[in-house]
Amino acid sequence: MQIMNTTDAPRWHRFPNAQALARAAAEAVLDTAREAIAAADEFRIVLAGGRTPELAYRMLAQAEADWSRWRIYFGDERCLPAEDPERNSRMVRSVWLDRVAIPPGNVFPIQAELGPEAAAERYAELVRDALPFDLVLLGMGEDGHTASLFPGHAHAPAELVHAVHQAPKPPPERVSLSAAALGSAHRILILVSGAGKREAVRCWRSGKALPVARIRGPAGVDVLIDRDAEG
Ligand code: 6PG
Repeated sequence: MQIMNTTDAPRWHRFPNAQALARAAAEAVLDTAREAIAAADEFRIVLAGGRTPELAYRMLAQAEADWSRWRIYFGDERCLPAEDPERNSRMVRSVWLDRVAIPPGNVFPIQAELGPEAAAERYAELVRDALPFDLVLLGMGEDGHTASLFPGHAHAPAELVHAVHQAPKPPPERVSLSAAALGSAHRILILVSGAGKREAVRCWRSGKALPVARIRGPAGVDVLIDRDAEG
């Protein structure tokens, strides 16, 4: 995937279907990891939750990589018991992380089972030491949310990690990296797939200040979108 000029506007990369999008995302992750490990002997990635990235995670489970140098963080987590099947970290572990040789001590789940405030406070310490990330993966909800940053929610801008209450997407209590923390990455990929995202994409493109639109990175943002989401 060619990186074009860096401007505030996201760079849109179009794919015919979810499979092609997932393959491009997996390849971009592996490329960025190789570059980061060559440069600093370490690769710090923030993973997206939800369903969209799952296929890319499954592809990464089949890939060859210097997994011992990977450090895994999460962009957000749902305040559910640690082993709840609806936890983002559990999905990622089951389709990918438990199938490759990433040292368990290099995977940093958000302890969302502690509740929003306690988990956000603890994770902020971890994130502070990890910035800047090499790569941040994000999805986008049908209302233009990303991670657990939802329209109409106000958060202290200086926070690295937010406690989230009354989220419109269940569960209502969550923990989310802030736009500032997510935007600190050398590379940001936002994966958008499926007809359900068309309206949010249209609003995003028309300049609406959606949470996803507020994510900015020093090298810009790359959006990987499939035909169904493009409309
Ligand atoms: C979550 C995710 C959330 C997700 C979007 C898109 O906890 O659900 O962090 O931000 O990325 O809601 O979800 P889908 O990929 O399932 O459409």
